[in-house]
Amino acid sequence: MDKRIMIEGAMDLETKFLLDALKQTQEHLLGTWRFVEGWYKEVPLVVAVTAVGAANAAAATALGIEKFKPAAVISQGTAGGHDPALGAYDIVLGKQSFDASSYRTAQEDRADWQHMELMGAYAYEPDSGEFVPQAVYYPGDEVLLAAAHKAAAGYSRGRVMDGCIASCNTWNRQKERLQYLHDTFGSSCEEMEVHSAAHVCRQYEIPFLGIRMISNSEFREEDFQPETAQVCQEFVLSVAQEIYRSY
Ligand code: 5AD
Repeated sequence: MDKRIMIEGAMDLETKFLLDALKQTQEHLLGTWRFVEGWYKEVPLVVAVTAVGAANAAAATALGIEKFKPAAVISQGTAGGHDPALGAYDIVLGKQSFDASSYRTAQEDRADWQHMELMGAYAYEPDSGEFVPQAVYYPGDEVLLAAAHKAAAGYSRGRVMDGCIASCNTWNRQKERLQYLHDTFGSSCEEMEVHSAAHVCRQYEIPFLGIRMISNSEFREEDFQPETAQVCQEFVLSVAQEIYRSY
């Protein structure tokens, strides 16, 4: 099947609406990861239920790419706000992402103990035949981003902005730390899957975009709001349609 889009979500509440929207479905279990092929209107999709965290997202992305050869991959779901201007139901389109767990700290005697020097990941470079350090920030695919901008015109529950997604298996709740990450690295929000999926897609040279809806913000004293997950999936389906039209 040509031009199929793989849409990933970590938790059941982040994939249920997608799965319910699919027609002519076919189930697959690869390792311990669930994939469901099907159609949303005219759009061929694969929904990947990755489970939470970077390792799960990377494994599911690689398995899904090998099996389904998607034309594009989207990692979508909930996120916590780093940009104090963002609140629940606002959407961050991943113009960039980075691994917020890949850093070198300052030595103990440094006054600015928070100091983090981002390092990025290692990946295979065909030219040298070696695994070498990669850029810290990975860009989201421009074509997918343009399609998401078109879909944004139909979204009225909050703002849609291009932003920078910080990925890490950590849930930060201290405002000082969140503000530091935002000010120092330009992050708009945090979550646990986008950058590792981006990394695998980069290795396979498959267009990738992270789409995340703010579900919690310490700056706004908003605790995790599970309802945001469904609204995010609705938006992502409209993005998938726009992507498909752009082919
Ligand atoms: N920090 C980290 N992960 C978050 N998630 C939602 N909000 C946050 C947050 N503030 C998402 C992650 C993961 C699950 C725990 O929820 O992507 O899948």
